[in-house]
Amino acid sequence: MSKVTVVGAGNVGATCANVLAFNEVADEVVMLDVKEGVSEGKAMDMMQTAQLLGFDSTLVGCTNDYAQTAGSDIVIITSGIPRKPGMTREELIGVNAGIVKTVAENALKYSPDAIIVVISNPMDTMTYLALKSLGLPKNRIIGMGGALDSSRFKYNLSQALGCNANEVEGMVIGGHGDTTMIPLARLATYKGIPVTQLLSAEKIEEVVKATMVGGATLTGLLGTSAWYAPGAAGAIVAEAILHNQKKMIPCSVALGSEYGESDICIGVPVILGKNGIEKIVELDLNAEEKDLFAKSAKAVRATNDVLKEINVL
Ligand code: LAC
Repeated sequence: MSKVTVVGAGNVGATCANVLAFNEVADEVVMLDVKEGVSEGKAMDMMQTAQLLGFDSTLVGCTNDYAQTAGSDIVIITSGIPRKPGMTREELIGVNAGIVKTVAENALKYSPDAIIVVISNPMDTMTYLALKSLGLPKNRIIGMGGALDSSRFKYNLSQALGCNANEVEGMVIGGHGDTTMIPLARLATYKGIPVTQLLSAEKIEEVVKATMVGGATLTGLLGTSAWYAPGAAGAIVAEAILHNQKKMIPCSVALGSEYGESDICIGVPVILGKNGIEKIVELDLNAEEKDLFAKSAKAVRATNDVLKEINVL
């Protein structure tokens, strides 16, 4: 029996739970929210699609009842407030830090062996907070930002190339922030052909910029932050772990000395499998990319420092 808990049944959490059930990633998906009735209602609504769509996973909703999450293999944390137009992810730290810490501690009481996947923003800092406050081995704490940003990068590349997004490969590393993420255009390909051979430098620059502000663009259109791709990104990270897929997905993870950084959670490619992070993949970055990575780490670290200023760490 595999079980995944999604904490927070807002747009992102509910989408994530829906993808997990629809794709039968786990036998049981539990949604938990602090708002009375919301996760129960969404779970019931989704279960009423089971016969329409033909999935066999079960979905259960509960109001702040962590006992129902007991024995989860994976706990996905989406709790907290989303961005409003004009806000950065970093501005959410004051409210979200306390929520994420409490949620993670409660969930772990009932699922002591769970792997924690963090979606809440600012994602790298919330992942770092989970790492520092829970005392779990670092292979069990994973932020999903790079999975989302890489899918946006591939989407933007496919738009520029006029091709099927599934035929594009590309990764985004660094922080999950409008100015900190690093879409690795040099390594992106279309059917194995470097995109640098197919698109002008100008066009690539446009794609990189659009990717970096991808979340903000959607927040401007929607009036709140996006949920379909963020929720699906959380679900594919959970799937890679639960199904021991050994896929390489950029995620925010604790670095020891890799990429010249330590005491930080930031996006780098990792191999995901049943143990969570099975390996950190060290890319051979060029001087410019190394410089961008160091700058990104510096900015993420500055946001992490706020955790101490507000006494959460
Ligand atoms: C985004 C939020 C979820 O990038 O961080 O859409």
